[in-house]
Amino acid sequence: MSRKYLIAGNWKMNKTPADGADLAKEIASFVSKDESVEVVVCPTAVALDRVSQVIEDSAVKLGAQNLYPKASGAYTGEISAEMLRAVFAKYVILGHSERREYFAETDAFVNEKVKFALESNLIPILCIGETLEQREADETLEVNKTQLLGGMEGVSAEDAAKVVIAYEPVWAIGTGKTATPEMAQEVHAAIRSVLAEKYGSSVAEKIRILYGGSMKPANADDLLAQKDIDGGLIGGAALEAKSFCDLIESARKAD
Ligand code: 13P
Repeated sequence: MSRKYLIAGNWKMNKTPADGADLAKEIASFVSKDESVEVVVCPTAVALDRVSQVIEDSAVKLGAQNLYPKASGAYTGEISAEMLRAVFAKYVILGHSERREYFAETDAFVNEKVKFALESNLIPILCIGETLEQREADETLEVNKTQLLGGMEGVSAEDAAKVVIAYEPVWAIGTGKTATPEMAQEVHAAIRSVLAEKYGSSVAEKIRILYGGSMKPANADDLLAQKDIDGGLIGGAALEAKSFCDLIESARKAD
């Protein structure tokens, strides 16, 4: 496969800077310089700088969990793209369902962030996914398409090729319920075909689509074996070095 697998840990609101540095150190020692898998850790904002220093000489890359789409100014509590670049972040998670749910983030706002991240040389990890009610109402593909096109509105084909999409069914996040590999593959394939319609198939073939939602060592092999699943965005299992490194190992084998 031409797309490089990506294993990203979303630490959410966990780990102090010191605990994050310890975890990052263990992960960095597991990941080799010529790693076939791209590995990203996304700590909280206050831990970014410390973790960045720990992984500096390793192949592990840094991601943030959010940004505010303005250069600077009176936006109390927010973090700019320039600040993320200053700590050497390469990726930024945008549109996570927790931000959509608890902070009322809309597709339009997520889209502003996606465009701002790209202009700022950060790679967005754009999260999309349906709720259980939407799945049961047979709205899964429609909901994902709307969030995808909403988030990518006005993004050029050249920029689109850099973006990472994370399909995270909301009902599978932190619940222990995982989409079956077939269920996930169906949505991943649908996402890729929406991208192909918008950007053409050669761009769509370059875009990595991660699965997220209770991904763990026990189910990773089967998920990563699916044609359109290019890695994982991992919450709970990213908080322990052992389980996160086991997921990296699964992606190495899937390669
Ligand atoms: P869990 O792996 O804990 O289900 O979280 C997934 C997620 O939301 C990653 O962004």
